[in-house]
Amino acid sequence: MTALVAGRTRRLASLAEALLTPHGMDRYLELVNPMLVRREIRGVVTGVRHQTADTVTLTLRPSRAWRGFTAGQYVRVSVDINGVRRTRCYSPSCSQHTRDGRLELTVKADPQGLVSRYLHENAEPGMVLGLSQPDGGFTMPDDRAERTLLISGGSGITPVLSMLRTLADEGHRGEIVFLHYANTADDVLYREEMAQLSAQHPNVRVVLAYTLAKKGADLHGFFSAKHLKSAAPAYRDAQTYLCGPKPLMDSVREVLGAEGLSAQLHTEEFTPPALRFNAEDAKGQIRFAHSGKEFANSGKPLLEQAEDAGLSPEHGCRMGICFSCTKVKTSGCVRNAKSGELSDDENVEIQLCISVPVGDVEIAG
Ligand code: FES
Repeated sequence: MTALVAGRTRRLASLAEALLTPHGMDRYLELVNPMLVRREIRGVVTGVRHQTADTVTLTLRPSRAWRGFTAGQYVRVSVDINGVRRTRCYSPSCSQHTRDGRLELTVKADPQGLVSRYLHENAEPGMVLGLSQPDGGFTMPDDRAERTLLISGGSGITPVLSMLRTLADEGHRGEIVFLHYANTADDVLYREEMAQLSAQHPNVRVVLAYTLAKKGADLHGFFSAKHLKSAAPAYRDAQTYLCGPKPLMDSVREVLGAEGLSAQLHTEEFTPPALRFNAEDAKGQIRFAHSGKEFANSGKPLLEQAEDAGLSPEHGCRMGICFSCTKVKTSGCVRNAKSGELSDDENVEIQLCISVPVGDVEIAG
């Protein structure tokens, strides 16, 4: 009987979805309550805390389409700012096994970052954010390693803390060393949580390093072979997971690479997509309205053209993944260099790094 009712409900929902095309039921459900949407994912903020002066930690309850994540992956988070939907990628810091499916995200407010600053200043319980299903291959194998070394710096702690919390929830018995870098004591995220995990799990060792402060941590200064040997003497036998600022990533790569251990080092690696260009697209004028800059279209992606013209648009990955380079196109046509698709809609967000202008284009930013 229950199955019969569920089947009928599903058929009615499909019928309603078809009748409500082209907008689909979600557009109408969203007006009533954004958390009722069926195909897209929303997350309602249920908790907000500021662990450090420049970060905000959000607890979110995702809507029913959320399928869960694997520790180390990231989600795209969207928020409407002044009527424009902005999207950025953040890695959950919670265990992948949270019982009620809640997500925890920690966002560092970048002085140049529109979305991170907005969330830092405005996030409050009840706010509804757009979410994507998780993405990314920075994950641990199902067959957990005997020895795991987690290294993070600053807000790069989130995916590796998620790994640590996941392993702890699984009762994993293998040796885990968590080496975390922060500038000073005031910049340490999740200090209490890390201390608690190491107190509750004898196989977990947390090593704190301050890069600027000269005392108060287990280690001081920047990552080095000496730090590695001191924090994790058995590092040669460990699988290492690393996330943090570029100088830290470069140093760890160099030190482990010099010992022939690169294959045991895992980082979030993005593969640049093959971009499609079309020589005939290079015509017309590009205008960035806010700065008043106008220049001839060279046929390169808009991010490069803007930089060539002396502008410094916000950006991250430069390969269409992080959405930090999005700007509103007010007029003109662009080609998505990943998919080859053309878009001539007005007032839509585009990713500058993978959008090639086709003739005249105006950008609001
Ligand atoms: S999507 Fe990351 S910089 Fe463009």
